[in-house]
Amino acid sequence: MKLLIPCASGLEASVKRQLKELGYGDCPAIEGRISLTGDWEDVARLNVFLRSGERVLISLGSFQATTFDELFENVRKLPFEEFLSAHTLIRMDGKSSQSKLGAIKAAGGVAKKAIVERLKQKLGIRSLDERGERAIVGVSIFRDVATVTLDTSGDGLHKRGYRVKNWEAPLKETTAAAMVESSFYRAGKPFADLFCGSGTIPIEAALYALKIAPGAKRDFDFLHWKNTPKVMDGFKKQAEELRDRTTKLELFAGDVDPKAIELARFHARRAGVEEHIRFAVADMRNFTSKESYGILMSNPPYGERMGREEDLRPLYRDFGKVFRSLDKWSCYFLSGFPEAERCFGGKADKRRKLYNANLECGLFGFFGKKPE
Ligand SMILES: C[S@@+](CC[C@H](N)C(=O)[O-])C[C@H]1O[C@@H](n2cnc3c(N)ncnc32)[C@H](O)[C@@H]1O
Repeated sequence: MKLLIPCASGLEASVKRQLKELGYGDCPAIEGRISLTGDWEDVARLNVFLRSGERVLISLGSFQATTFDELFENVRKLPFEEFLSAHTLIRMDGKSSQSKLGAIKAAGGVAKKAIVERLKQKLGIRSLDERGERAIVGVSIFRDVATVTLDTSGDGLHKRGYRVKNWEAPLKETTAAAMVESSFYRAGKPFADLFCGSGTIPIEAALYALKIAPGAKRDFDFLHWKNTPKVMDGFKKQAEELRDRTTKLELFAGDVDPKAIELARFHARRAGVEEHIRFAVADMRNFTSKESYGILMSNPPYGERMGREEDLRPLYRDFGKVFRSLDKWSCYFLSGFPEAERCFGGKADKRRKLYNANLECGLFGFFGKKPE
């Protein structure tokens, strides 16, 4: 099967490295989707182990589609009956850019009609009751070429299952994991998130350092489709075996708001990493450490809801001062505050554009000295 892994803009490099580590070599990325070939075992492995991909899609086919008729006829040729049953609840998803079929909702409606026609004919049924398992069918049209996909993940892969309560401006788990993955963090190094909110960054750092598979405890849509072979048990077992149960991490998670700390602790408990994180209600200005070569990684406040510019400037200035008071630490932070880097002080060694909650952000890396 041809598999596609959509990635949030700016995370492709991290996902590609993760794929390499999982043994998939150098996979090409086209239009924000990484493509590879694989079987059901790969579908299971990727869903369980990938930390920063958005979801795992099976590509059923690509074809030119400049009219609704062309779309209908081509979708009807695709082998949906190999995956879907007479009871499948079909959900349509899609996007279109630089194409004649720009009305993606209407295109989705046409594609769904074609799928239903195909299933009626191939399964010998009169209608689809849609009371069963879910399948999200994607139609993405780019420059008049439509690609039709089946979403094996269902809920996005950022939904690990531990974060159940909302916090203002939380960071997506997949983005936090990519921040950790692309830093120099590894077990044994000091690590601190001074603006931890609901705890996403330190929790993802703990999952990463302890080799805990992010998808080991959750459900995926493809497991409920007809004809899916029993492939999951082996990977859940493998995930258990790979997990590091001997290392004790010493991560620090601070936030000035006691409710945030309560929530972050609750999420860490759900993720099974609470004992590895020291939580504290603390203003980041009071953070000190006697250790060297640590990592600060944070998502400080930004945007209208989280602070006015005149409050953010001194906050970032003080954050920069805290960083420079530490011995040979590195600092990575994600922020949508346009003056973040300037106020923090100095020039970032690494700078990348990312999106969080549809807001353009910068991911800044300030590197400390490397150990001798
Ligand atoms: C954008 S949110 C962090 C979201 C977090 N990454 C998450 O995934 O939930 C910023 C956080 O910084 C905290 N904060 C603001 N000023 C602070 C300060 N001076 N010291 C420590 N924390 C602060 C806020 O309470 C808020 O939880």
